[in-house]
Amino acid sequence: MTVSRRNFLVRLAATSGYAAATAAMTTLGLGAPAIALAAQPEGPQLAPGSGKGLRVLVLGAGIAGLVSAYELRKAGYEVQVVEARDRVGGRNWTIRNGTRIEYGDGTTQTAEFDPDHYFNAGPARLPSHHQTILGYCREFGVELEAEVNTSRSAYFLPDPAKGGQPVQLRRAINDARGHISELLAKSVNRGALDQELNVDDRARLVEFLKVYGDLTPKAEFKGTERSGYKVFPGSAEQVGERQEPLSLEALLDPDLWTSLIFDELLIFQPTMLQPVGGMDRIPHAFHERLKDVVRLNTEVKAIRNKPNGVDVTVRERASGKEQVLSADFAITTFPLPVLALVDTNFSPEVKAAISGVHYDTASKIAWQSRRFWETDTHIYGGISIVKHETALIWYPSGGFHKATGVLVGCYNIGQAARDFTAKPLAAQFGSSRGVIDRVHPGRGAELQRPVSVAWHKVPYSLGSWVHWATPAEKEYTLLNKPEGRVHFAGEYLSQIGAWQEGAALSAHHAIAAIANRVAAGATVAKRAA
Ligand code: ALA
Repeated sequence: MTVSRRNFLVRLAATSGYAAATAAMTTLGLGAPAIALAAQPEGPQLAPGSGKGLRVLVLGAGIAGLVSAYELRKAGYEVQVVEARDRVGGRNWTIRNGTRIEYGDGTTQTAEFDPDHYFNAGPARLPSHHQTILGYCREFGVELEAEVNTSRSAYFLPDPAKGGQPVQLRRAINDARGHISELLAKSVNRGALDQELNVDDRARLVEFLKVYGDLTPKAEFKGTERSGYKVFPGSAEQVGERQEPLSLEALLDPDLWTSLIFDELLIFQPTMLQPVGGMDRIPHAFHERLKDVVRLNTEVKAIRNKPNGVDVTVRERASGKEQVLSADFAITTFPLPVLALVDTNFSPEVKAAISGVHYDTASKIAWQSRRFWETDTHIYGGISIVKHETALIWYPSGGFHKATGVLVGCYNIGQAARDFTAKPLAAQFGSSRGVIDRVHPGRGAELQRPVSVAWHKVPYSLGSWVHWATPAEKEYTLLNKPEGRVHFAGEYLSQIGAWQEGAALSAHHAIAAIANRVAAGATVAKRAA
């Protein structure tokens, strides 16, 4: 069987999200740029006091907006942040007991979790090389813990509509490795690689494959303890009874392959991290330092570039009162579908880019439940991937052995998420419950108090991220430049789209561009002190 690399990526995107596909593109050399790794990324390095006498309006208090405001203020700029919601964080949204999820169409849900439980409806994991956002966690003392993104005890579920039965990942991963190792060893021993390898390396490769695939001394794969036991070894006479190896044929199901390499993708490699108590600890830490300059519940209605500044018309949501704020520069961090609703005097080209770029979506469902995944199947964190419209089951990384926990019972993206969330909530919850019951038989009935977040329905987000076809797309290049006195920032304008790291780096890029203009001097009309 062959599968083209692009088909593989499409499948990966469908089951694991855009970021996984992007990472795989990098791995497979298909054009996405490698992330430059710096041991300690430099901040934006704006000279202290360099912004004195200059005013910047930051539109949106998500990660890009908060980082922009925080760094600009450190350099002496006068900053005001305008945010339409009653909270900071943007898509970094942690749902707890009592949180209301209100869609533009009037649908309302209220989370009814026990105290201490939470659900990260947006970002839920931090790769350990995302040192810009982790650097802010370090600086602000945001407590982190391991986010257990993969567990060998979790499952892959082949299409349940076709009778698929759950396969435990430790079996799939180790049996695939065993079969492949045996086949490669056979090829070497039959002389198929004599052109490529000298005699010593052939012998060494076979010895390596015995270790790598847990082969017999004759280089055969007869199953491995790595794949687990039907009956675990115990005391006295209780001998362990190993699992039979899965057939190679079963492992050649392309739907399974994402699960086999999931934690090899750079963005999903252990150790991943999460703030203790919810991802929104990060925006809250920024907010504590910016309380006096963040204006919540205030919508942006219009942006007008002027020769030497920018006017932004804002509207207080409660009173409807409008006001024009003036500044030397603005940074808009809105997702593009939100920015498209703002009246601007941008060029037709920039307006077309803002309204023309397709914004993706994502949806998640969370349940409160007894922690049956720990007691029944020894799953402590990690993800079961399901060939189903709900895409996965994501187990909590914290609170082990407590009575209950929050289980994510759906995380789908793109058109699959749009189709799924077009159904009534009860049907979405029924679908999630049903597939969880397939992986954990009899446990679907224990799932309680579900909530769903479909990002394209959430006002002031209207989507999740951009899936650029290439990193050099015309609109990407255009919006990475300022339009008059307005600069754009957001994860979608970075090479690390759909990650908070990208939002922070994009903010650094925007404020560095402003600082460069200020340093160049000529274009800035400093107001009288
Ligand atoms: N960063 C997003 C995730 O972790 C795409 O799923």
